[in-house]
Amino acid sequence: MEFNYLTLDDFSLRDKHVLLRLDINAPLDPTTNQILDDTRIVSAKPTLDSLKQSMVVVLSHQSRPGKEDFTSLQQHAALLQKNCSQRVSFIDDVMGPAAREAIKKTKRGEVLVLDNVRLCAEENLEDKGEKLAKTHLVSRLAPLFNLYVNDAFATAHRSQASLVGFPHVLPSAAGRLMERELAALKRVLERPDRPSTYLLGGAKIEDKVPVIENILKAGKADHVLVGGNVGKVFLKATGQKFNDAEEEELAKAPEQVQEAKSILAKHRDRILMPTDFGTLDDGMRVENSISKLPRAGKCLDIGAETAEKFTRIVRQSKTVVASGPMGVFEQDGFESGTKIILEAMADSSAFTVIGGGHLAGYAGILGIAGKFSHVSTAGGAMLSLLAGEELPAIEALVRAAKRHRM
Ligand code: 3PG
Ligand code: MG
Repeated sequence: MEFNYLTLDDFSLRDKHVLLRLDINAPLDPTTNQILDDTRIVSAKPTLDSLKQSMVVVLSHQSRPGKEDFTSLQQHAALLQKNCSQRVSFIDDVMGPAAREAIKKTKRGEVLVLDNVRLCAEENLEDKGEKLAKTHLVSRLAPLFNLYVNDAFATAHRSQASLVGFPHVLPSAAGRLMERELAALKRVLERPDRPSTYLLGGAKIEDKVPVIENILKAGKADHVLVGGNVGKVFLKATGQKFNDAEEEELAKAPEQVQEAKSILAKHRDRILMPTDFGTLDDGMRVENSISKLPRAGKCLDIGAETAEKFTRIVRQSKTVVASGPMGVFEQDGFESGTKIILEAMADSSAFTVIGGGHLAGYAGILGIAGKFSHVSTAGGAMLSLLAGEELPAIEALVRAAKRHRM
């Protein structure tokens, strides 16, 4: 894997108008909408430091239209101000006359944060760069800049205008975080020390189940351990019965269950599923083996026996990648599966990588984030990359570099 894109070192940056695509999408408190974790905002600092002599305009997103946490980027801008030496301002416009006027007025050493780019309907379409280069978003903003910089590694698996449209028409470079993420993940992708173990959990099954197939097909994993909802989907694929409420939930994901079935048919020997769960019965955690699940409460964590089996494999591995928690660790009594596994990874001398906002955030809360070889700011993008899939935003940077060199 050689990424032949340009970096900030390839350009003179002084007095240049730079459009910087970040991913500062953050988890928000559901009642107050306050930012709960600023990891991605803090991670933008190295790139902002490199751009101190430029006129910087930041483009980013928060959640998606229709979701509760689809907000403006005002508080993100305030946190960005705390994390860089430039003066940061915010405008509640993305591409209208007010935004364009403010962009033109941005001075050297200043950073202007535009509002949530997903406020523009065009940004929510996925298509090829040449097509998205013709959107109003790109055609209105691109003429105001000398350079496009993409540091949004966590969104690199999306083929949206702000990620693939601008690099089609502007000289383009990868930012510092993009470089750092790819350098660390390259090691896992190209020559993982064996045995190599992937722990996949969390709630978003539609993002995870398809990449498991690719990870196994690419021969990158000796073991895939599944927890959280991903674990339930795999168990369902074997004919496991759950209580009525969970059966109802799983009935909404027939595609993923079918996919899990076909993955198991091909790679059964490399997949380890939970054999017990921590369930919520009468307001308390109870350990239940999978044979008891139809009459048990909701499965909110892997069970103690499963956690023990999983950690044994983690301890024997030389590469461990984890994305997504093993259960609902936010709920009292149901954190132990995720905690035990994170601690086993932190104590191991293997090359360890964790990704996904929730898991990385929890490692931070436990005070062990510094003990992993790499903590990725990405969830879905990291897994897509490790599964050998092409990341459209990175491909767009590579194509821009080719054009630049011609
Ligand atoms: C993420 O947090 O997953 C990234 O910011 C990408 O967002 P998306 O999954 O809504 O495209
Ligand atoms: Mg996502």
